Amino acid sequence: MKLLVINGPNLNLLGIREPEIYGRQDFSALENFIRASAAEYGVEVELFQSNHEGAIVDKIQEAYGRMDGIVINPAAYTHTSVAILDALKAVALPAVEVHLSNVNAREPFRQISYPGMACEKTFAGLGFEGYRRAICHLAKREKTAC
Ligand code: DQA
Repeated sequence: MKLLVINGPNLNLLGIREPEIYGRQDFSALENFIRASAAEYGVEVELFQSNHEGAIVDKIQEAYGRMDGIVINPAAYTHTSVAILDALKAVALPAVEVHLSNVNAREPFRQISYPGMACEKTFAGLGFEGYRRAICHLAKREKTAC
């Protein structure tokens, strides 16, 4: 099983960016955590981060026929991007949404998620652990336990 893990804008600044909300660990620590989680469940992962909406749309389109699922933290595009929603619907791969912070307990504008409408599940407010749960959820589609 091969999963694409997408991180959206400003997540590359983890550790520097609002550490009281997003924590003090940097983006490379997150990437290492995602790789370790994938190894734990015996799945291959491809990691992608971009600050550009169109690049994320392109990457989702490229996943068609190559990947078995998508884990996505669309970051700020969560709350604005019908284009990312449509791309996820177009490729129709099983997808799981992740947010480091608990978006539901923050500003009202963070409480709508367009990409989330095409996702089977959302993990929010669990920090890095949300990515592990998302990978576990998708891995379960192939195996019975993880
Ligand atoms: C985020 C939450 C979004 O509202 C925000 O714009 C982000 C990060 C999170 O992981 O908690 O950039 O997706």
